[in-house]
Amino acid sequence: MSEQVGVERVRVGAEAELPEGSQTEVTVDGVSVVVVRSEGQFYALRNNCTHKDFPLLGGEVSMGRITCAKHGAKFELATGKAKTLPAVKPVKIYRTLVEGGEVYVLPL
Ligand code: FES
Repeated sequence: MSEQVGVERVRVGAEAELPEGSQTEVTVDGVSVVVVRSEGQFYALRNNCTHKDFPLLGGEVSMGRITCAKHGAKFELATGKAKTLPAVKPVKIYRTLVEGGEVYVLPL
């Protein structure tokens, strides 16, 4: 059995350069991921609505949710769960890590 090689963490940027409300796109293992700073916390979600193929980057963020700009589905930042139609499937989430003033994303 071969050992699975873990994906390296991906640097998002310096914490000081990622202000409240900022959204940053990074690529983790070939997948586009949006990193959102909301209420001081960093959240990372696959940058792709589960309703249709549309990026979440740039969607409005409020009350711990990001809204898909295409048809208005809302996803919970912390869990990726679809909270409003027309999306029903959750969006994949990633782990965020702040270390030495730098923000990183890595697969869960
Ligand atoms: S593509 Fe996101 S709600 Fe339709």
